[in-house]
Amino acid sequence: MRIAALVLAAGEGTRMRSDLPKVAHAVLGVPMVRLVVDAAREAGCERAVVVTGHRAEVVEGLLDDAEFVRQDRQLGTGHAVMCAAQALADFDGSLLVLSGDTPLVRPETLRVLVEARGSAGAAVSLLTAVMPDPSGYGRIVRDADGAVARIVEQKDASADEAAIREVNTGTYCFDARVLFEHLHRIGNENAQGEYYLTDMVETFVAEGLGAVACVAADAVETLGVNSRVQLAEATRALQSRVNEAHMLAGVTIVAPELAWISPGVRIGRDVVVAPMTFLAGETIIGDRAVLGPNTRITDSRVGADAVIDSSVLVGAEVGPGATVGPVAYLRPGTVLGAGAKAGASVEIKNSRVGAGSKVPHLSYIGDAEIGRDVNVGAGTITCNYDGHQKHSTVIGDGAFIGSDTMLVAPVRIGEGAVTGAGSAIAKDVPPGALGVERSEQRNLEGWAERRRSGREENAKDEK
Ligand code: UD1
Ligand code: CA
Repeated sequence: MRIAALVLAAGEGTRMRSDLPKVAHAVLGVPMVRLVVDAAREAGCERAVVVTGHRAEVVEGLLDDAEFVRQDRQLGTGHAVMCAAQALADFDGSLLVLSGDTPLVRPETLRVLVEARGSAGAAVSLLTAVMPDPSGYGRIVRDADGAVARIVEQKDASADEAAIREVNTGTYCFDARVLFEHLHRIGNENAQGEYYLTDMVETFVAEGLGAVACVAADAVETLGVNSRVQLAEATRALQSRVNEAHMLAGVTIVAPELAWISPGVRIGRDVVVAPMTFLAGETIIGDRAVLGPNTRITDSRVGADAVIDSSVLVGAEVGPGATVGPVAYLRPGTVLGAGAKAGASVEIKNSRVGAGSKVPHLSYIGDAEIGRDVNVGAGTITCNYDGHQKHSTVIGDGAFIGSDTMLVAPVRIGEGAVTGAGSAIAKDVPPGALGVERSEQRNLEGWAERRRSGREENAKDEK
């Protein structure tokens, strides 16, 4: 059976009170609509069609693997599906209809829906949940035999119906052909004056085409985000789901409620994640690495046995056994070799630091190529920017950069060369040479003592 997904994401989400469309709000660093499309893909959807409307270009910009149809005026979920009729005219199979604001839905659950519809031979299968507090959701009305009869929206519900705790989660699997054949039957004579997709259920039941419900095992999965309170709830729920999976796979997370790991981050065995650690984007962590506390790593690779303490990494690559921090900032294009060190208060950008090389204290390294086993003394700075252009610094293997060296780029320090502490090095230093640039020191014998005694004499005079 072919499967495609139709994701409804045109609404504004007024209850978010936001300039950003609701489905663009992120849960653990990933926009909600992105999570929904990912779940659809993982469930085996060959196409993902997304209905956009309110600030469509923002939503479309978040998805590079979907097709889009526009719904210019948001006249209801049924109307949103109608807008996709043409795009899906040639599609014959199971159509998962998902809400862009239901970010916790799991691919496994979508598969269950697809299979439930198939085995029942029904026109639709819908995911329901039993909620202690069903307010805001459509309620599932069942007949005397317990079969699904229809869905009633909260605003249209009688007091008896409103008391029903089984709700519609807005997640469905339709027979695409049957859906588009009957969709025109939906009207908008209801409390909200909207075209409700949910009305299809009653139509299918009346026509004997079948509607079956699958009750979600875990109601959390079906959480629809309408407010920022629910956004935080969704974040907590996804956080515990993601963290549990990592822990079961052999990652120690010292305080799971204080570790925020985006779905999609890959972590090796025996890694330790200390509190207040954020891992996001396309990040891959090697075995036995120790991360945190107080660390943020985005779009980076960290090698096995590396140690990252209280640092920020963005677009960086840290080799096996390397150490970073405390309080280092590794920016895009930083590559630390095996066993290298970027120590306390060190910022590195667009630079390679060779295996075994050390930048232990208080340095800025930008646009540099540093060889192996180089020692970069405390306070060393690459002066890579002349106000117009960036220039590069090249340091050969085994070089020793004295503390507080200004490397005025473009400049090359040869293999095994040394620079004198406090030098402003603006000319290349040949391999094996000492480059030193500073005025000579004078020692004035007895000067300090003379000053002290002078003061004492002054002090006596004052008495
Ligand atoms: C909908 C369901 C309700 C269910 C709930 C689950 C209907 C009529 N009701 O209600 O039974 O319990 O979801 O969360 O379907 N959208 C569009 N275009 C529109 C309207 C909505 O694309 O014209 C999109 C929204 O962006 C959103 C999704 O559809 O992603 C759901 O819309 P929303 O207005 O939140 O529906 P609910 O009132 O929550
Ligand atoms: Ca909703």
